[in-house]
Amino acid sequence: EEVSSRTPSLDALPDIPLFSDLPRDAFIEFFEGCPLRHFARGQQVFERGSRGTAFYVICEGAVRVFREADKELAALSSGAFFGEMALLSGSPRMATVESTSDETLLLEVPASVLAHLSRRYPQVARALKKFCRDRLLTNVMS
Ligand code: CMP
Repeated sequence: EEVSSRTPSLDALPDIPLFSDLPRDAFIEFFEGCPLRHFARGQQVFERGSRGTAFYVICEGAVRVFREADKELAALSSGAFFGEMALLSGSPRMATVESTSDETLLLEVPASVLAHLSRRYPQVARALKKFCRDRLLTNVMS
């Protein structure tokens, strides 16, 4: 995995429903310093059981989320996000996430930045919790 030398262009980010209510200034304040990371097909973003230190937004490409190689929980693409569960719960990563595109571009939001954003914009915190609950429920039911 290689860190982009480009400054993350906020205009290049897709419309992310989670953040659609945020003022443009907030977007710049919170995300401008966040690294954009590139992942090749098959490359792991993180592994199940590891400690969560960041939250990821998919800017380009796609990933798959799985607990065991043949048991996929989800496929996520541009505009989706992942990695919120470990940050909200303090638990280890509940699944492994791997790039399924030749070039997957992820905005990496450090835990501290997400915490700060969630305090400032409670609607973001609420939306994250709702996603977390829905995803947990999906996994329990599947
Ligand atoms: P986390 O546990 O930090 O790391 C693995 C991530 O996979 C998890 O956070 C969620 O963001 C994501 N994830 C887990 N289950 C699902 C699901 N059913 N649908 C979409 N994403 C999921």
